[in-house]
Amino acid sequence: MTKNELKEFDSLVSDILENEYFLTTKKDLHHGTSKYEHSLRVAKLSYKLGKIFKADLKVASRAGLLHDFFFGTRKEKPENSYLRHPITASCNAKRYFNVTNKEAEAIKTHMFHQVLLKKLFPFINRQEKASIKEFKPKSKEGWIICFSDLLISIIELERFQFSYVANVALLLIFNVIMFKN
Ligand SMILES: [Fe+2]
Ligand SMILES: [Fe+2]
Repeated sequence: MTKNELKEFDSLVSDILENEYFLTTKKDLHHGTSKYEHSLRVAKLSYKLGKIFKADLKVASRAGLLHDFFFGTRKEKPENSYLRHPITASCNAKRYFNVTNKEAEAIKTHMFHQVLLKKLFPFINRQEKASIKEFKPKSKEGWIICFSDLLISIIELERFQFSYVANVALLLIFNVIMFKN
């Protein structure tokens, strides 16, 4: 990020970064790093992609930063589970930061890549239900956050897993379909 981009990004999200509840995500382990660091990386990449694809930078940055805003780890509570945590994060973002409906929706749909994967391979997380219609991103910013989260997760996980390679391919195909008009 350039100095000016960093300044703009900061002006869009500084209230979240300084918030006492958001700061608690520093102690939650996520993809081998802290949830705070992971969310910040996703938000910065979403901001950059938002510039490239001429998206709403405020939505991309704020929803990117709050996409995993749930308390504790995914295994601790049912509402933090693999496919339910986006709904929890979306509700928390509304409750603590009064985010817009567009931002809340972008947060809610950030795990769409995993929903697709589950539809292809139903034995994954068999106990969880997920609907394509409900979790498909509804805006350009939603697609950007979904892609950023996937890419950052791959980098953070270090181990290059087959499921993630498949996810990237699926998401790229869906992006092409989405943006072809
Ligand atoms: Fe997530
Ligand atoms: Fe994430």
